[in-house]
Amino acid sequence: MMKRRALITGITGQDGSYLAEFLLRQGYEVIGMVRRTSTVNFERIKHFQDQITLVTGDLADEVSLISILREHRPSEVYNLAAQSFVQTSWAQPVFTGETTALGVTRMLDAVRIVDPEIRFYQASSSEMFGKVVEVPQTERTPFYPRSPYGVAKVYGHWITVNYRESYNMFACSGILFNHESPRRGLEFVTRKISHGVARIKLGLDEELRLGNLDAQRDWGFAGDYVEAMWLMLQQDHPDDYVVATGETHSVREFCELAFGYVDLDYRDYVVQDERFMRPAEVDLLIGDSSKARATLGWSPKTNFQELVHMMVDADLQLLKEQNR
Ligand code: NAP
Ligand code: GDD
Repeated sequence: MMKRRALITGITGQDGSYLAEFLLRQGYEVIGMVRRTSTVNFERIKHFQDQITLVTGDLADEVSLISILREHRPSEVYNLAAQSFVQTSWAQPVFTGETTALGVTRMLDAVRIVDPEIRFYQASSSEMFGKVVEVPQTERTPFYPRSPYGVAKVYGHWITVNYRESYNMFACSGILFNHESPRRGLEFVTRKISHGVARIKLGLDEELRLGNLDAQRDWGFAGDYVEAMWLMLQQDHPDDYVVATGETHSVREFCELAFGYVDLDYRDYVVQDERFMRPAEVDLLIGDSSKARATLGWSPKTNFQELVHMMVDADLQLLKEQNR
């Protein structure tokens, strides 16, 4: 039997690394697209780098995408690459639009030109719901994005739907709620907290500066969510799905649990800092993933407490190794 071949854009990111591991376990040949950088940033993929093929390309350059598809002929493309940090999208709105919005069109168009039979996954986001118009949010909830990133993701979502309807392509949009892990970038709030807690516990820091503690998110584990991406591309028909836990917690609760896990009280260490407040905030996200549960047979395996503990444990171990 021929091995199935998948292309992942954004393989060096949190989700790309978990998805690659998952696809390798399913017996896929994995092609990972990476950007040319002056120093390598393969931290998240170095432990399985010998099992995948890395190719150079950029979502800003459609020719590079066409060349990669022509050369490697994948049957599935997972478009995970993006400028994914919401706060940065106010400082770099045009760049965010180029990558996170127009980059999706470039990838879809490359698929259409090279082989429209390729199955396509777009990494859409709960950030599209923004100032939510209903609770919980489903596939039918109208979008009201609150950041240049959210606006760019709305474009990426609709262009995916449009290529499906215009060219009959197997293009799916996964509307994923926040998902975290020990591989999360240090600038995102969950990892900033777990890393901060570990530094304080080990005597490396005395405080943790955060922004809005009242924001509420539906946080799941990234390792669970990549399976939903794959399941979407294994169905008979392309469609869009919300992927979420159905539970919401505040940043404050995350702090309480993370500090409490190492016998500390977050109120003694967390300092609110204006620099981390956003010009427009997404106050509350909570997803209803009934469709994914019923159609894909997907459900999250890791609960909130397990996620927080996993992240704090991993950062304690990491810092102990770094400071040995
Ligand atoms: P991440 O850790 O920030 O990874 C982003 C990846 O995109 C990195 O590999 C990055 O490469 C790559 N990239 C950025 N710009 C690129 C460009 N112009 N061309 C090629 N590659 C580029 O993000 P993540 O958390 O894994 O998220 C994966 C995707 O899901 C993103 O599209 C994100 O917006 C979306 N999403 C994430 C969540 C979540 O909670 N994690 C929820 C909903 C949707 P470098 O390593 O070179 O920077
Ligand atoms: N990053 C950060 N840093 N966020 C903070 C801080 C801080 O110091 N203090 C409070 N927050 C609040 C933010 O204001 C926001 O309400 C919440 O914590 C979560 O922020 P992030 O962890 O940066 O994630 P996000 O929800 O903005 O975006 C993530 O999830 C989206 C899905 O809803 C990213 O992964 C996006 O790429 C993804 O689409």
